[in-house]
Amino acid sequence: MKIDSKKLVLAAAQARAGSLSPYSKFKVGAALLTKSGEIIGGANVESASYGLTCCAERIALFKALTDGKKDFIAVAVVARCAGGPMPCGACRQLLAEYAPDAKVFVADSDELATVRAFTVRKLLPAAFSLRS
Ligand code: THU
Repeated sequence: MKIDSKKLVLAAAQARAGSLSPYSKFKVGAALLTKSGEIIGGANVESASYGLTCCAERIALFKALTDGKKDFIAVAVVARCAGGPMPCGACRQLLAEYAPDAKVFVADSDELATVRAFTVRKLLPAAFSLRS
């Protein structure tokens, strides 16, 4: 299936509206695309106990997984930063486990037409695994 990166980036930008980020004020939106064409969005959720914060990518992934979705072929992440936000290490690990074949698109919310493309494998080439 041809991946419509612009559509997925737009979905991530829309999901970003759900961000609960009163501490950092850094709103992040993510959108996952399944092989069957479904899109699942998520946004970052922060806590007054800062370390409990959860990134947009993981919120989207946990939503999707616990709704029984699988076979993710792409994920888009959008925030207001130059070049778009690169997923953090923890999210890369989760993506490597549950979306190993996915493409990763990132974009600045002020410039959605400019999309940078990566792969989960490129972002985390030697992911932790219980199997060697
Ligand atoms: N954040 C994400 O949502 N995704 C990332 O990949 C990195 C950071 C969020 C967490 C926190 O709410 C805010 O951005 C600032 O770190």
